[in-house]
Amino acid sequence: MCGIIGVTGAADALDILLDGLERLEYRGYDSAGVALVSAEAIDRVRIADGTHSVATLRTATEPLAGRSSTGVGHTRWATHGHPTEHNAHPHLDCSGRVALVHNGIIENHLELAMRLSADGHTLASDTDTEVLAHLIEEGLARGEDLTTAVRSTLAVVRGAFALGVMTTDDPELIVASRRISPLIVGVTDTAGYLASDIPAVLDRTRNLIALEDDQVAELRPGSVVVTDAAGAPATTTPLNVEWDVEAAQKGGFPDFMSKEMADQPAAVLDTLRGRRGPDGVIAIDQLDLSHDDLARLTKVVVVACGSSFHAGLVAKYAFERWARIPVEVDIASEFRYRDPVLDATALVVGVSQSGETVDTLQAMRHAREDGARVVVVSNVVDSSMAREADGVLYTRAGPEIGVAATKTVLAQITALELLALHLAQVRGTMTHEQVAVEFDELLRLEGVLAETLARSDDVAAVASGLSHATDFFFLGRHAGYPTALEGALKLKEISYLHAEGYPGGELKHGPLAVIEPGCVVVAVATGGPLKEKMLSNVAEVKSRGATVVLVVEDGDEDGAGVADYTIRVPAARDMQSPIKDIVPLQQLAYHLAVGRGLDVDRPRNLAKTVTVE
Ligand code: F6R
Repeated sequence: MCGIIGVTGAADALDILLDGLERLEYRGYDSAGVALVSAEAIDRVRIADGTHSVATLRTATEPLAGRSSTGVGHTRWATHGHPTEHNAHPHLDCSGRVALVHNGIIENHLELAMRLSADGHTLASDTDTEVLAHLIEEGLARGEDLTTAVRSTLAVVRGAFALGVMTTDDPELIVASRRISPLIVGVTDTAGYLASDIPAVLDRTRNLIALEDDQVAELRPGSVVVTDAAGAPATTTPLNVEWDVEAAQKGGFPDFMSKEMADQPAAVLDTLRGRRGPDGVIAIDQLDLSHDDLARLTKVVVVACGSSFHAGLVAKYAFERWARIPVEVDIASEFRYRDPVLDATALVVGVSQSGETVDTLQAMRHAREDGARVVVVSNVVDSSMAREADGVLYTRAGPEIGVAATKTVLAQITALELLALHLAQVRGTMTHEQVAVEFDELLRLEGVLAETLARSDDVAAVASGLSHATDFFFLGRHAGYPTALEGALKLKEISYLHAEGYPGGELKHGPLAVIEPGCVVVAVATGGPLKEKMLSNVAEVKSRGATVVLVVEDGDEDGAGVADYTIRVPAARDMQSPIKDIVPLQQLAYHLAVGRGLDVDRPRNLAKTVTVE
């Protein structure tokens, strides 16, 4: 996600902004910008130069040194609009009197932009953010001061935001506010600071406050005043920050993998944001396929690698049940060397966190040459796949730094299930009410995931009991089967232990021969239509001496007699279940790897993005 910083009351404001942006670079970004304000003007410089943007910005802003003691800065990870200079922050209003930086997603930006354009505003970018600058402009034109104009703007926007706003009318003031997206403010005797992340300002002040939802902070040199949405004084709690910069970059977690696992509720929720209209219709803005195109489809083919392939396997169950359309899921490196049967009635869905994996990219190219419609589910805006596909469905998990995919996989499944619901609506295979039930269940996952994550210590205890095991089988059935595959892959990747994922019913066709004492079987038996059959498969391995770890939903005692260890997860509907069942399997892999003293963020022999065949 984007990073923001602001400072007022510092002679070297520009350096502070640039240093802070450098501290935010580790998160990954595609463009960056700063704006400095004085009574006369706002000076703004924006650069879209990928991960070199802050360095290029430093050179490009040299002429602005000493120009002002108040400014804001931003590193952008595109969600709405291409990663170009004109979409980079800060954004300005029509008059150039207001500048702002924003992190988050404004869900109703399209309707607000239409209204603003109709009223004569010129919107200069494709972002969801820019509407905020124009709404604040309208407040100032009504005679409101900046703080009031920010408050009246926030009253009409839906979604998530952390923002910093300044105006030439009051050049020592920065107004900051947040809803859902985090924001901290801080002061020294002479300056005021804001930032989306602690590392950005940690070397300037440790006198920090984390704003609560809808609080508004007025930052001036040496002071911060925090009020609630109604303008009444708000109670704030100082942050006790003992971290150094490196620890702060990981959000205080010991490694990026645990931080990214903790980000999962937000990744899922952000991927859903703004994608169901008030009329209940699922809307995917950049899909670029007409209802006629979608209604004409005769099959869906998912192509992907690794964890993204597993997300595709989960989605197969959702597409077939909800949209009643045949689905093939293929490993991208195999698909392109087959001679797949495709035409304009086939929808090929590439699934790729990076959008750059060469096997998936080539598979999608192959499909286009054969005349199929091609869309991609990607976490990186304007990735190679996104640029080449007919349509895009972006996941909004934010940058993922750990090599092992975690939050992006959950976001991929969420996005694919969203696409399946969209297709079901277009094809008329589900009623309005049925779609609402499934979508609401996806929304409910935010809380379910938070609860699942909170049980990490229980999984750590299981991992410690298994610390000498070297052979693991992960079993699942129905949508629990790809869950099992993902559990096995995570374990292999970060703990270097031998692990295989299998459909439970397939065991007796061969693998049962290798089950013996010492072998660990992790069985996903969380609801679903085949739970009973899954438990019989578990009984088969137990009677051959395997150590059984059973993943079951709260309150389910059906498997009590067979398990050596039980991992409990909250209940969910069966199609959404994999999104939370994958979590304890990530945790199991994590705790086993940490127990072996391994670097979970940088497993041996692996790269985050595989751009070679
Ligand atoms: C597993 C993992 C890999 C990727 C695979 C595809 O944890 O990270 O298996 O899922 O390399 O990468 P993307 O999704 O970028 O195409």
